[in-house]
Amino acid sequence: MATEVRAGDRGNRGRLLTALYIAQEQEGYLTAEAMQRVAERLGVSEAEVYSTASFYTLFRTEPVGRYVIQVCRGLSCYLVGGAERLVDYLERKLGIKAGETTADGLFTLETVQCLASCGTAPAMRVNDELYEHLTTEKVDMLIDQFRERAERWAALNQS
Ligand code: FES
Repeated sequence: MATEVRAGDRGNRGRLLTALYIAQEQEGYLTAEAMQRVAERLGVSEAEVYSTASFYTLFRTEPVGRYVIQVCRGLSCYLVGGAERLVDYLERKLGIKAGETTADGLFTLETVQCLASCGTAPAMRVNDELYEHLTTEKVDMLIDQFRERAERWAALNQS
């Protein structure tokens, strides 16, 4: 027998996903306290909130850097684009391994299986932005830009 999905269920799921997304925007990841607040405000169980947060890769339950770099290691990026070389390059450049965050909290490096941009391999996503046809020169330029942005932001906050 097929599972019946009612319109109200979809609406509640949408509200929960939206609330989690907003909560994550506040601190960069979902803290236990944030998930408890979401459960209370929406009147759903904490178990439902936790299981939803852990099911969707969009949500993070651990702290990450300001810039989360996700390098695609999918087949196209691997075969056509030299994704492994790119990951190695970023690991050396940032001084961390995939799955780690730099000591200054600026960058987290991750690998993912496909960013749905196979025709423009190799690709990576940094936060919500997709970068395609990558070379080590482009990567250098991007990392420099992110560092400059962070420095400008820090300078603004000090003045
Ligand atoms: S394999 Fe890299 S974007 Fe699809």
